[in-house]
Amino acid sequence: MNINNLLKKLTIEEKIGQLMQLAPFFFIGDLKKEVYGPIEALGLDEDEVFLAGSVLGIGSADEMKRVQNSYLKRSRHKIPLIFMADIIHGYKTIFPVPLAMAASFNPELVKKAARISAIEAQTAGIHVTFSPMSDLSRDPRWGRVVESFGEDPYLNGVFSKAMVEGYQHDGIDKIGNLASCVKHFAAYGASEAGRDYNTVDISRLNLHQYYLSGYKKALEAGAQLVMTSFNIFEGVPATTNQYLLKELLREKWEFNGVIISDYDSLPQTIAHGTSEDELDAAKKGLLASLDIEMASASYMNNLKKLIEEGHLDIKLLDEAVLRVLKLKKDLGLFNDPYKGADSRLEEILVLSKEHLDVALSLARESLVLLKNDNLLPLDKKEKVIIIGSYAKENNTMGPWSWHGKKEDIMPLDKAISMYGEVLLSKPVKSLAELTKDDITLIKKSDVVILAMGEESSESGEAKSKTNLRLSLDEKEIIKYIKSLKKRSVLVLYNGRPLVLSEITPYVDGIIETFFLGTMSSEAIAETLYGHNNPSGKLPMSFPRSEGQIPVYYNHLNTGRPAKNKNELYASTYLDSSNEPLYPFGFGLSYSEFIYEKIALDKKEITKDETLKVKIDVTNKSKFAGKETIQLYIRDYKASVSRPVKELKQFKKIYFKPFEKKTVLFEVTKEDLKYINTNLKRTIDKGLFAIMIGGSSDKLLKETFEVI
Ligand code: GLC
Repeated sequence: MNINNLLKKLTIEEKIGQLMQLAPFFFIGDLKKEVYGPIEALGLDEDEVFLAGSVLGIGSADEMKRVQNSYLKRSRHKIPLIFMADIIHGYKTIFPVPLAMAASFNPELVKKAARISAIEAQTAGIHVTFSPMSDLSRDPRWGRVVESFGEDPYLNGVFSKAMVEGYQHDGIDKIGNLASCVKHFAAYGASEAGRDYNTVDISRLNLHQYYLSGYKKALEAGAQLVMTSFNIFEGVPATTNQYLLKELLREKWEFNGVIISDYDSLPQTIAHGTSEDELDAAKKGLLASLDIEMASASYMNNLKKLIEEGHLDIKLLDEAVLRVLKLKKDLGLFNDPYKGADSRLEEILVLSKEHLDVALSLARESLVLLKNDNLLPLDKKEKVIIIGSYAKENNTMGPWSWHGKKEDIMPLDKAISMYGEVLLSKPVKSLAELTKDDITLIKKSDVVILAMGEESSESGEAKSKTNLRLSLDEKEIIKYIKSLKKRSVLVLYNGRPLVLSEITPYVDGIIETFFLGTMSSEAIAETLYGHNNPSGKLPMSFPRSEGQIPVYYNHLNTGRPAKNKNELYASTYLDSSNEPLYPFGFGLSYSEFIYEKIALDKKEITKDETLKVKIDVTNKSKFAGKETIQLYIRDYKASVSRPVKELKQFKKIYFKPFEKKTVLFEVTKEDLKYINTNLKRTIDKGLFAIMIGGSSDKLLKETFEVI
């Protein structure tokens, strides 16, 4: 297909239509009855609807075929629709939420999960996924941290890259692969006060230093689309932001793929107060090189007038349409508009044992053991009680998993009963629900498993919270169990770091599971009974209180760093330590890993030399297990203030019982560079430190000079 020749045949209306994305019901609903309202709300007529270039969301191969069919019948040039959807952590086989995936510190496994997500989603005829979400997230009040890879720029880049490679695999033209749309560009995770859609006000220096790494690594991995974010940057909404979209994406990063708005985010520039009306919004969008407008019709209703009246050069429209047509060509849709849609194949591939096995492996590696006072693993002879809202719950998929079905998930108590004796399993939400018989059983038991946390619906878009604690009822249950002198383990289901300070003294163990997806109960039960040795590490700090937020590990030193709590005239609080309750990179294991003898092969290097680093790590336990050995650097003097530590590499390594390994790293100038006030990546001479350990707060350190 020669898309330049095709472009020449299109009317201006047909061109503009390619830039509009609508929901599937517009094309298969009864336009006269069911759909007339939404059509009128968008100011469209029926013919304009059938000029759209892409569809948002689709539920099955049959639905996709019906939509594509009814559309192509009316398309003058038979230009196929692209079908896009939010395949964020699985299609029908649901994997752990991205925040949990990051806790696995296993990008290869996450890549496999993305690959499987693509294979399954493609059987429904989906061509593009709005994933990875690469927004650096430092504020757990924000509901969307669940979709992110947490607070570290390096980790954000590693997992953004892994997901794009998994989705796109060996080419987006091939059946079973998805084109990846990285989102939300840019810095949506810096929304003030953790309130969704709120103002973002960060410097360009911070944008480049911390927030861009995920998008950049996704694009370097070949992501084909970028979605703009709802927030402003430097006062201008990202969706019409010339600096972000033109100067940075198009010119500096030479991105020539499709830029798509977020849902209705183009007309929302009116509410932001930077567009007069939809005519103005449409003009600003095209001038910023926004290509597709999602779920609104500012372009459809205004671009023709703007071009015919000379306010916009038609070249801009042609460039945008060519980018969309190129994507369709690269996807192979001109050859096969129904590419991938195959309900028979869906039956065979979806939720296959192979897929579920990967989901179980990733769930095993994504949960994080936060506390274990000689309680875990449980002995199968121990009599257990399971109480809390998740005792029997099987909706443990987390947000953005609507294609998944909770019927595919084993309830927690069923999984646990496969390993031990369950005296009682009751989804109590308050003490009052415990009967006398229940209490008799609790008194007879050896261990109480408290399956609690957030509702899945408390995470995700538009789910910001100011209170990150378990409910008062849950706290009361936990304290009551303690008052009975019963040992207990809290199994947490949540989409964000919670404030657990008041809880930890009352429980003997805490397993942070986030939302582990289809195989969550099996992974949790295996872990409770020692058939899985937990290896997850926190990708986000857990604050002591909401008042501490934002609290993140790679903070600056300040001019008055606090050496201890309550130090006068130092950067600290009167009523709290600066340190989080559980820090970035933290996670316990049933093994005990000892770090010794960090050693550098040189005490000074030039900017172009490589530093070899080694460290001895010993598993001093009878449990085989995996440990994520983390390497951080510190740059003590630079042209801008630098963090007290920054993750630059990590290795997740398996250890046999009592096994000792010498682990090697090579540190290059790329690990030591930073962004200076001219927004250039640079490296200064001077003192640096290398720090290695199994958590950001427990590191062995050696210093060296760059000369
Ligand atoms: C939503 C989200 C975005 C998602 C899009 C399509 O508003 O912000 O992440 O991809 O709409 O569902």
